[in-house]
Amino acid sequence: MTQKNKMVLNADVTQGKINKNIYGHFAEHLGRCIYEGFWVGEDSEIPNTNGIRNDVVEALRNIDIPVLRWPGGCFADEYHWQDGIGPRENRKRMVNTHWGGVIENNHFGTHEFFMLCEMLGTEPYVNGNVGSGTVQEMSEWVEYMTFDGESPMSNLRKENGQEDAWKLKYFGVGNENWGCGGNMRPQYYADLYRRFQTYVRNYGDNKIFRIAGGANVDDYNWTEVLMREAAPFMDGLSLHYYTIPGDFWLGKGSATNFPEEEWDITIGRAYHIKELIEKHGAIMDKYDPEKRIGMIIDEWGTWYDVEEGTNPGFLYQQNTIRDALVAAVSLNIFNDHSDRVQMANIAQTINVLQSMILTDKEKMILTPTYHVFEMYKVHQDAEKLALHVDTNVVKMGEKEMSQVTASASKAADGKVNITLVNVSKDEDAEFTLDVRGLDISTIKGRVLTAGELDAHNTFENPENVKPEEFTSFQDSDGELAVKMPSKSVVLLTIE
Ligand code: AHR
Repeated sequence: MTQKNKMVLNADVTQGKINKNIYGHFAEHLGRCIYEGFWVGEDSEIPNTNGIRNDVVEALRNIDIPVLRWPGGCFADEYHWQDGIGPRENRKRMVNTHWGGVIENNHFGTHEFFMLCEMLGTEPYVNGNVGSGTVQEMSEWVEYMTFDGESPMSNLRKENGQEDAWKLKYFGVGNENWGCGGNMRPQYYADLYRRFQTYVRNYGDNKIFRIAGGANVDDYNWTEVLMREAAPFMDGLSLHYYTIPGDFWLGKGSATNFPEEEWDITIGRAYHIKELIEKHGAIMDKYDPEKRIGMIIDEWGTWYDVEEGTNPGFLYQQNTIRDALVAAVSLNIFNDHSDRVQMANIAQTINVLQSMILTDKEKMILTPTYHVFEMYKVHQDAEKLALHVDTNVVKMGEKEMSQVTASASKAADGKVNITLVNVSKDEDAEFTLDVRGLDISTIKGRVLTAGELDAHNTFENPENVKPEEFTSFQDSDGELAVKMPSKSVVLLTIE
């Protein structure tokens, strides 16, 4: 291993805006994400506002969620929106066939979703049903949500208590249409996409950003066909990629009790998203050299075996310092490709997969991943800065990558923020950071790290993993000597 531990930041060279939507989230009717996670109902003893948990809203407001995708996922392609409006006691009950076969009472529907977004101060992203829905159903949902004049759907909305049309920017036309969203072939979906999106109307000044269902992992042919056949009709094309240390069908691996080598495998597999973005991006470039169409990574994150004793269909997993590093490495990559990546939505906000929050009845804890989103929020809509990273190359499972990954940006308040990740499970990282084009007056640091590979927060010990002050750097005339502990995420803020 050769020692090449230098970074150069050119703080006066900007490289375009980091779209804040890269810090987006996803909430599906799956397990305890919507029900128990967000929604407890007005009669619950858990403190709530109109049925939505106050503690969860307060915690999520602190990470500035820019956009929230709902109602699925696979659930989206069997969701019939009309079942989720009107008096709650009259709403139709259905079986959630994808996720545990439980009864969905439809108490959380369109009105509750927009109310939640308002409370969070977030932009709604609604995913429509192509798999088992009709063009008329999709078209009427958009009319119900966004049409302000006199029409059957807007009248119905008013009867249900919402006088004004909502603003809706992001709309997905189906989900995973190569799989749970209809098992389609790309040519067939491309044609359906063209047809369905025609009736996703822009009413008044509400302009919808249409997102086509994109590829699974490295299905480059899907991207090729969609771009070739439907590019002029879309504003975004999705991509889904989950980090799984094991095998999806044979055993994904445990969230906490994992062998040491699974640390490297997991981080290496998270890093794989860089290659996926670049290869899918190259196909998109061929048809859209201006980069008008956004790559929308609307499902990403870790996926492990469920916690013992929990419903296998609920996808409930713990969240450790390893997950924090997966998030931090991925977000640095998204920032770095923000010329094409316009949105990303980690799966899923509460109690499902790589969540921000875990709940147990009235109790709530923040995960290490939450803390990464809190530290990284400074990058939202900030100007990306030119940062050259030349640190040791390490082998992480099947991948080779830089031991330290990094991203830098300049916020509207003039502060320069650098996020750094030392992916090594046992080695510190020492390097110099040469800050050019900026007169430094103060530098503040924060670090998220832990002693154990599977350190996590529990309901008994909720603050085991949380950010602390970071002081392990020395400034000598703009050249910082930094020492990061193993398995750590650092935020440096320079003024
Ligand atoms: O996030 C869980 C599931 O993963 C989603 O419902 C689906 O789109 C994906 O396969």
